[in-house]
Amino acid sequence: MSKRKILVTSALPYANGSIHLGHLVEYIQTDIWVRFQKMRGHTVHYVCADDTHGTPIMLRAEKEGITPEALIARVHAEHFGDFTGFHIQFDNYYSTHSPETRHFSEDIYGKLKIAGLIGIRGIEQLYDPIKNMFLPDRFVKGECPKCGAKDQYGDSCEVCGAAYAPTELKNPYSAVSGAKPISKSSEHYFFSLSDVRCADFLRQWACEGDHLQPEAANKMREWVGEAGENKLSDWDISRDAPYFGFEIPGAPGKYFYVWLDAPIGYMGSFKNLCERENIVFDEFWQPQSQSSTELYHFIGKDILYFHALFWPAMLKNAGYRTPTKIFAHGFLTVNGEKMSKSRGTFITAESYLKQGLNPEWLRYYYAAKLNSTLEDIDLNLDDFIARVNSDLIGKFINIASRCAGFITKRFDGRLAAGEQYQALQAMVDEHFLGWRPDAIEQAFEEREFSAAIRQIMKFADEANEMIHHLAPWEIARNPERTDDLHRACSLGIQLFYLLARYLKPILPGTVQQIEIFLNCESLTWPQLRADQPVSSLLLPAGHAINAYQHLMMRIDTKQIDALIAANTQSLSAVPPQSPVRHAEKQQHAIAPVAETISIDDFSKIDLRVAKIVNAEHVPGAEKLLKLTLDIGNEQRTVFAGIKSAYDPEQLKGRLTVMVANLAPRQMKFGLSEGMVLAAGGGNPGELFILSPDSGAQPGMRVK
Ligand code: 2FM
Ligand code: ZN
Repeated sequence: MSKRKILVTSALPYANGSIHLGHLVEYIQTDIWVRFQKMRGHTVHYVCADDTHGTPIMLRAEKEGITPEALIARVHAEHFGDFTGFHIQFDNYYSTHSPETRHFSEDIYGKLKIAGLIGIRGIEQLYDPIKNMFLPDRFVKGECPKCGAKDQYGDSCEVCGAAYAPTELKNPYSAVSGAKPISKSSEHYFFSLSDVRCADFLRQWACEGDHLQPEAANKMREWVGEAGENKLSDWDISRDAPYFGFEIPGAPGKYFYVWLDAPIGYMGSFKNLCERENIVFDEFWQPQSQSSTELYHFIGKDILYFHALFWPAMLKNAGYRTPTKIFAHGFLTVNGEKMSKSRGTFITAESYLKQGLNPEWLRYYYAAKLNSTLEDIDLNLDDFIARVNSDLIGKFINIASRCAGFITKRFDGRLAAGEQYQALQAMVDEHFLGWRPDAIEQAFEEREFSAAIRQIMKFADEANEMIHHLAPWEIARNPERTDDLHRACSLGIQLFYLLARYLKPILPGTVQQIEIFLNCESLTWPQLRADQPVSSLLLPAGHAINAYQHLMMRIDTKQIDALIAANTQSLSAVPPQSPVRHAEKQQHAIAPVAETISIDDFSKIDLRVAKIVNAEHVPGAEKLLKLTLDIGNEQRTVFAGIKSAYDPEQLKGRLTVMVANLAPRQMKFGLSEGMVLAAGGGNPGELFILSPDSGAQPGMRVK
């Protein structure tokens, strides 16, 4: 088999959110495929990076009172920790905010410009007159033009599903400042996708070639249209300042749109790896390299448009190679439904690991569900428990745990040799006559992981049947059957060894422990020629193994319950600070003491000393002030109903007390991330925010 040179990427996660189980479908799928190819001896470079640019990241950093650079550095460390926890083994995990990505963005843009594929024209967009910025669709909210639902985003309605332009919203407001947006025009830069060179190339590359899965190619035919039909529109690749990204050369105040430099981040990350490891970058990116190296992008089906149209058209027209294939996958549902924060099924990678769940359970379950299509996959939590316990523990690990003890105690840790070994080989060859690992190999190659697992588990079922039939635990009682016992247990360990190879791309951590237990070299992909019997793959006669250490626990339902509880967010959180305007008669009444609660109830409330670093009026809000609170390790924005009692200037620099673990609440004027404590009835002059005694520091817990 000739050695292949393969460059693989997974989509770059945004640097303003946590990795969750939905993201992991893709990283696990890619990692399994990469590990499989590496086991076969091919040269594979697997690169990824954080997708760091754009308005949401800029605003998130501003809200936290830190620079975008500080935010992306923090999130990078979090993402990398999550991926490592799930055994996702990138050869490089980088950032799009890098000199390499800047270089290739400018390079590609420059070449497209020379090719006459960059146009400039003015467009009208909604603008926030308070924040002085253009508003991306998701930052305009208002009433749905179709069904009238309030607080809907500028691109689509979550209530009736309608899609529309932000200018169609009724009573629109800026989700950044609450201001009423105005319409304003500015010059934008466009990549001329409608140019006949792009359309003709894409018609051939995306619609006719074998670069895409059949369902994806069908979609492309719909989007690209027939020759002569001009269905593609030019792509707006610029955004106006303020924006966090790369400024466009020769265009002050204009930045590359995040989606322009995101896929270029694949090149940037790879270039960074090449410099570190002396790999020849051009071997993978020059047009002539297409015949000798392979380039694969694993992505979610929602970003097919960017990867199957814009990206190859950019590469082609800038003189680079285009991808060998794009592998799109479907979305994750949990228990048959969209992941949901209120149901606790929006599960972060971090919480899964923190609860002590084994990441390889999930790797196995996803593999058992994944195939090469764009179909969604469902994580059914009951099925997850049943499947992992039955397949991994019941069928796989149990083979070793049932046989290893006898080998250690009765045979000094050595597997059968001599006649016993020959008999054992004969049993394997007879039982698995005609069995070839090629089908498993092909299934892995084609990303038909569920088919691979079906075959591996069929092998495991047969191995278990053999052991069950030989019943070493019964033979062990008969002192005259020592040889039989040795042969039966050695057979079990040998079959376990065979199985471990096929499961290694999926369970890399466990198989690493198995390699120690079996005292063998790092397992590679088995090569079995047509004339070779299966027994030629076994460990040698008389091979010494180490004592068996527990390899994997069963999943307990309670662990899943705890995981769901840890991810459940209450949606019934009270408003941050409701200005309680009771009826006159109640004004001076002392309300009865509330219902008794336990200390445990009380300690659920995380009260913190907070420094008011900024306080400002909220345009259009009668009762609210917008506070920026420093709680030591982070800053929060809280909309508090204290306008009637406080001038913002008086509040700046004061310490107060906030509820830090209250679920964030999306208000008309923005997201409120907690609540400050105040006493009083809410009448002017009768509202008093709390202050700690002098010496208290921001972030101290109040108990
Ligand atoms: O959709 C997303 O999450 C994007 N951050 C994916 C970018 S993939 C690539 F193009 F960089
Ligand atoms: Zn609607």
